[in-house]
Amino acid sequence: MKKIIAVLPGDGIGVEVMPQAIKVLENVARRFGHEFAFNHAYAGGAAFEKFGFHLPEETLTVCKNSDAILFGSVGGPVDQMNLPKWKGCEANSILTLRKTFKFHANYRPVRVFPQLASLSPLRPEIVERGIDMLFLRELLGDCYFGEHTSFNQENGKRAARDVSTYTEDQVSAIAHVAFKAAQKRRKKVTSVDKANVLEASRLWRTVVTEIATQYPDVELEHMLVDNCAMQIVRDPAHFDVVLTTNMFGDILSDAAAVLPGSLGMLASASINDAGFGLYEPPGGSAQDIAGKGIANPIAQILSAALLLRFSFSLETEALTIEAAVERALDDGYRTRDIVRTSGVSQTTRVVGTGEMGQAIIDRIEQVSKNKAPATV
Ligand code: IPM
Ligand code: MG
Repeated sequence: MKKIIAVLPGDGIGVEVMPQAIKVLENVARRFGHEFAFNHAYAGGAAFEKFGFHLPEETLTVCKNSDAILFGSVGGPVDQMNLPKWKGCEANSILTLRKTFKFHANYRPVRVFPQLASLSPLRPEIVERGIDMLFLRELLGDCYFGEHTSFNQENGKRAARDVSTYTEDQVSAIAHVAFKAAQKRRKKVTSVDKANVLEASRLWRTVVTEIATQYPDVELEHMLVDNCAMQIVRDPAHFDVVLTTNMFGDILSDAAAVLPGSLGMLASASINDAGFGLYEPPGGSAQDIAGKGIANPIAQILSAALLLRFSFSLETEALTIEAAVERALDDGYRTRDIVRTSGVSQTTRVVGTGEMGQAIIDRIEQVSKNKAPATV
């Protein structure tokens, strides 16, 4: 298979972890007989420096001429947020990409790796029940893309308004994605809304219920968002696929993101109707540890695996990468963010970004040998 991948490393640790993901993709391509071309482009503060925009036209053109986008992370140091280079950086870059390519479905899998269970902030008896959920967040509706207005009231005081809308088509599109995803998992969808207050949530609930009739093998439950926030930390094993709106998905997926113990383990995918997608670690540019060679490349590497699965339908290749990551963990490889605070055991090898990438690549070979079908 011949494919072009747009590579947007961005800022901070993005530029450090991206080369590891590319090395992994190159290795997989060689092993499985594919040809991937990587077209690099700027995003975020890096783009602002060169072009004066966080997401320049040049970058959009590179993306348009590619089969998928591998995105790093954008954003500046906390104490420099008001400099032009960093102001609005994340929203400008990410929202423009979502809107341009109509990425309506955002996949955020949250899983506690058994090897890292002790890192979870939850009690062991809760973690032992298993934490493996998939957030499916609608990405183009809600107040994100509604009208944003600031105005003066009659009394002269300031006011502001953000309009939140959902259409039937938007809800049914993401609902289909969620039910299909659930069919490949544990066959349960929890649809999260605020139907006791919001009209858009009542439409959401009605449409999701209607679409569910087309998927009789999948169990559907509705949950109010405030209750869901509570259940995610009280009983995460309850959840399989969590289907929700743009704003609620933003908040709930961050709450769930701390359960695995490090943001460095999380991948995500934003996909449009045509299967074109953007793949990124949602953990951010982590400027506080950038430039030190200690960032965890696993989130970027797992995002590359999602790219192969969703945009190129290369399931075996994606599984190979995921299995190689697990092997590296089994063999004790740990970047600093995933070292247990209670101490380093004899088998633990605390490594930097490049060594972790290499440990995973070495294990791709082992995994694919074990899995390879008997060929002559
Ligand atoms: C995310 C981010 C973005 C969002 C911001 C940067 C606009 O928080 O991807 O979750 O709110 O969607
Ligand atoms: Mg967010």
